[in-house]
Amino acid sequence: MTALISRSKVRLERGAPDSLFVSKLTKESVSEVEKEIETVRENTEFRSLIEQTLVSGGRTNYIQICAPFELYALTRLCVPKHIVEVGVSSGVSSAYFLQALNENGRGLLHSIDLPDREAGRKSSRPLRGASWALPTGKESGWAVPSYLRRDWDLRLGKSGDVLPSLIKQLSRVDLFLYDVPYEIDEAIDDFRTVDQKLRKGSIALADNCLVPITWWAKRRKTRIHRRKGSGLRGFGVT
Ligand SMILES: C[S@@+](CC[C@H](N)C(=O)[O-])C[C@H]1O[C@@H](n2cnc3c(N)ncnc32)[C@H](O)[C@@H]1O
Repeated sequence: MTALISRSKVRLERGAPDSLFVSKLTKESVSEVEKEIETVRENTEFRSLIEQTLVSGGRTNYIQICAPFELYALTRLCVPKHIVEVGVSSGVSSAYFLQALNENGRGLLHSIDLPDREAGRKSSRPLRGASWALPTGKESGWAVPSYLRRDWDLRLGKSGDVLPSLIKQLSRVDLFLYDVPYEIDEAIDDFRTVDQKLRKGSIALADNCLVPITWWAKRRKTRIHRRKGSGLRGFGVT
């Protein structure tokens, strides 16, 4: 097992976790955030489980969310009732949200994914699929451990088609993550949909989605924060 990990190119940590980013979003002290980050960082059993699953499924060059530890810390500190995420692929962000919900003992993760099966298409040309394309024979979220799936509502389809009915069913959205390739207009439509169920203290995050998330933060008259060394940005509703 250990040999498998050391040969693996999968590393869930990319850059040092940014406790200050989480602190600004949650208004918790940096030391409280650091405690949560350390807890998940030291959970090598969980991390190895995810890394080994990715490697054994043929996922060695996968670009998953850059900040899984921060997602865990946000979930532990905010104790959300409803998390909504758009963009699952193999399920690294989902797994870290779910692990934290499991430890919270309450809350649900609602995820939406339009699976990209480019990698499984037969072609005489070298593989051209995006790094998030599913390995052949795998489904969205395939790397999420089975013990975490009880608190998981996974819906397949395009965000613009699936989000409106999901949001209608929820009383509120406490934590939102948008991690998909996007067109600006489509992302803004998705954000308008989610905006209806944000409340004071809710947190919205988007990866590499500068124009739409800036538009959203301005609409909410709140400050946007950036996760160090990455394109992940977010704001807290005041
Ligand atoms: C960057 S990956 C998500 C990575 C994931 N958050 C993680 O940490 O592993 C983006 C995912 O969004 C899917 N996707 C692309 N466009 C979408 C859309 N409009 N609605 C829902 N999912 C979409 C892609 O197929 C892919 O599975």
